[in-house]
Amino acid sequence: MLQERIPDLSKFVEPDRVRREVYTDADIFELEMQRIHERVWIYCGHESQVPKTGDYYQVQIGRQPMLMVRGSDGSISVLYNRCPHRGNMMVGDRNGNSGEFFRCSYHAWTFKHDGRLRSIPMMESGYTGTRWGKDNPDCNMKPAARVENYRGFVFASLAADGPTLLEFLGESKVAFDDMCDRAPEGEVEIVPNCFRVIQHSNWKIFLENQLDALHPSVVHQSTGRAAHNVEKAIEKETGHAPLSYHMLSAFATVTIDKWDNFQTLSYPHGHCILAGYMGLRPTDPDTLAYDKIMIKAYGKKRFEEIVGVNIHHVLIYPGLSVQSPLQQLRAVRPLGVDRTLTEIWHFRLKGAPEPIYRRSLAYYNLVNSPATLINADDLENFWKCHQGLSSDGGDWVSFARHHGHDIEKNGVVETAPNCGTSEAPMRGQMKAWAEYMRG
Ligand code: FES
Ligand SMILES: [Fe+2]
Repeated sequence: MLQERIPDLSKFVEPDRVRREVYTDADIFELEMQRIHERVWIYCGHESQVPKTGDYYQVQIGRQPMLMVRGSDGSISVLYNRCPHRGNMMVGDRNGNSGEFFRCSYHAWTFKHDGRLRSIPMMESGYTGTRWGKDNPDCNMKPAARVENYRGFVFASLAADGPTLLEFLGESKVAFDDMCDRAPEGEVEIVPNCFRVIQHSNWKIFLENQLDALHPSVVHQSTGRAAHNVEKAIEKETGHAPLSYHMLSAFATVTIDKWDNFQTLSYPHGHCILAGYMGLRPTDPDTLAYDKIMIKAYGKKRFEEIVGVNIHHVLIYPGLSVQSPLQQLRAVRPLGVDRTLTEIWHFRLKGAPEPIYRRSLAYYNLVNSPATLINADDLENFWKCHQGLSSDGGDWVSFARHHGHDIEKNGVVETAPNCGTSEAPMRGQMKAWAEYMRG
């Protein structure tokens, strides 16, 4: 059907603009699920979500309901949440513990944690002489074709072939290095449970927004100003305002022209980095106490390298947005052409003092949670974009800002100096999209 209506999808993506159907056509969405989300490496979760044998956590990969599960040997498997007997879902709750094995609630077939068949009630009398039994892999819960773990972050690919996880991540792996290296013990631990937000807009609109340095001082200006006024009042009264106010007031004080000083870097596979901003090194007593612990753990030289990493945001296409300096991660799960689930998580730095965790929690609540006006500001625009794109008011979406000024070296696109608000990251994402969609 898609082929009849749109014989050449590549014509929908030009270097500086994209056809609106890319965001609104349900058949294009289905093809995206097949050719992108159900092929590439998708983030499942952090290993600390399943600490004990038998722990499982449901995760959606493309259209597929999957389970991340911890086995008795400590390994983590990612399985389709489906019983090979008659197709029943193996678990109905989002997360839990399966005990020593999975047991289907319908006819009690049981499975090991890696999905292999363990038993069928009265297997011998029921199945002797049939093709069904322990030697037939069709009797196992189907595993994801590939599972890999980088520094505790578990990814799965539903395609047997393709680049390894590290080849796929390329430079974007800095998201996990930056997050883990900032922990005195070199590891992070997930804070159980996340915020879940369903956005009434296409999944790509969220991803494009993540490195859109033009929007914050516009969209979040009112929130930033209000916070700035309160911050100033507190400062006047007490001589010092809590750091958390700065997380919000920065949206007013970092004006559009200042965002142009930042830099974006776009990589193969659609990944991109926004460099700058969070490199800020506060000198409050909590930070100084943390610095001391870090220097003890790593030595002065390595410590300086670690805290000198100057990244605001890493986008791992097509489904992950990481703010490593503040241990925030948002996973994007497309539900339909106009419905997108985002899971908003944050992490603890192992070995770091409690106030450093509190800072991450403050950012989580004040900037990324559904309760903050920052998130609401964005969601309103995502929805309005999707509504506008669904209309006949125009055929194209423009990504032309600073087009023609990008600096390309070895497949990496750097924005030119003072072009931080460039739409280069969106151009990079759509270039990768077009490559994936060619199949
Ligand atoms: S559907 Fe699972 S045992 Fe029958
Ligand atoms: Fe925003």
